[in-house]
Amino acid sequence: MKLVLRGGRVVDTAGARTADVLISEGRIVEVAATIDAPADATLLDCSGCVVGPGLVDLHTHLREPGDPEAETIETGSRAAALGGYTAVQAMPNTDPTIDSAAVVDLVRRQSKAALCEVIPTAAITMGRRGEQLAPFGELAEAGVRFFTDDGSGVQDAGLMRRALEYARPFGVVLAQHCEDSALAGGGHMHEGACSSRLGIPGMSALAEEVMVARDIELARVTGGRIHFLHVSTARSVELVVDARQEGLNVTCEVAPHHLVLSDESLESFDPLFKVNPPLRPPADVAALRDALNDGSIDAVATDHAPHPPQAKAAPLAEAPPGMLGLQTALPIVLEVLTSKDPDSAVETALMRLSWVPAAIGQISGQGRPVAPGEPANLCVFDPGQSWTVDPQRLASRARNTPYAGRTMTGQVRHTVFRGEAVVVDGEATR
Ligand code: DOR
Repeated sequence: MKLVLRGGRVVDTAGARTADVLISEGRIVEVAATIDAPADATLLDCSGCVVGPGLVDLHTHLREPGDPEAETIETGSRAAALGGYTAVQAMPNTDPTIDSAAVVDLVRRQSKAALCEVIPTAAITMGRRGEQLAPFGELAEAGVRFFTDDGSGVQDAGLMRRALEYARPFGVVLAQHCEDSALAGGGHMHEGACSSRLGIPGMSALAEEVMVARDIELARVTGGRIHFLHVSTARSVELVVDARQEGLNVTCEVAPHHLVLSDESLESFDPLFKVNPPLRPPADVAALRDALNDGSIDAVATDHAPHPPQAKAAPLAEAPPGMLGLQTALPIVLEVLTSKDPDSAVETALMRLSWVPAAIGQISGQGRPVAPGEPANLCVFDPGQSWTVDPQRLASRARNTPYAGRTMTGQVRHTVFRGEAVVVDGEATR
């Protein structure tokens, strides 16, 4: 299959230029001001669009194996491709948990026909029970580079210390969902003025911050590598910034919803706004937006967390936390960054959504420059095009987006995965 991406503005680590891109047999063959399309090539119109490396999501819940009513690798990868992603890391809180090479292999086999690269991650502890470490050696041998008990944090500091020591020689990343369960205290939203007014049990910000601080100390002692998932408070970011300045091997990500939604959304008592970590007060939202713009936050990761309609229809206390994110992340990030600095917004968005996450996840062949010889994993989007979120039109099996009816600016036009146009003119091709 040959493709010519015609007339877009190419943006990557080398900067921006207007160019055509010729793709053949899965690779970029030529990038030039004008390319004469070979007779057997398909032309994709990219006028008015940015052509960049495909987005890379460090944090996607695909629910397979175990909960195909919520999502499957097929439906989740289609949502990813429509959102501009060419790679997603599949979280291990599946059923069974991804904690052995056999389950990694199962996810890989199920991912063969996916519309983007699906990278299995694995749990830090067996069954994510927080008691016994997973076999990092076996899992690293099977190609796993990223370990997390996401959905919950590793509560036992001694176990986390051993995990950091044990992981080191394998060169893998431990990613923490920072939530001290004693401090979180079974709350359903952020603990603060809003939760008090609504009478909803709250979850203290300390639950997150104490674990960020603890793990920074553990990283210092062990020399271990740690990535903080979905940081959501101003203080968490400050702690990470200080640790980074000290030279510790730490990175962090923010989820798009924490950049645009606050705890005030829970005034509706709508479980669509229930998520872990919870939506925070407007002051934290503002701090996270600044931190994304000034580089204090390394990456944006969706925490795409599909749940079936009947689960989200339960009362707030019983509904599971989580929201869809793959098809709305790019416009949200563009909106936030444009509000700070319109001139650099597109390049910074791609940095935080593509090449930096690819580096954090040690994902080869993704987030690469748009240059001859590179694998053709690309996303093409119109940064100025507006659209309205219709939950029924999202590709996910689930419908739990908190953005129904919201207008987003920035729309994916085409996605190219391993040289195949998997999204053309905003529609998935399979
Ligand atoms: O809201 C969340 N949902 N946060 C998590 O950490 C897990 C996720 C899920 O798996 O549903």
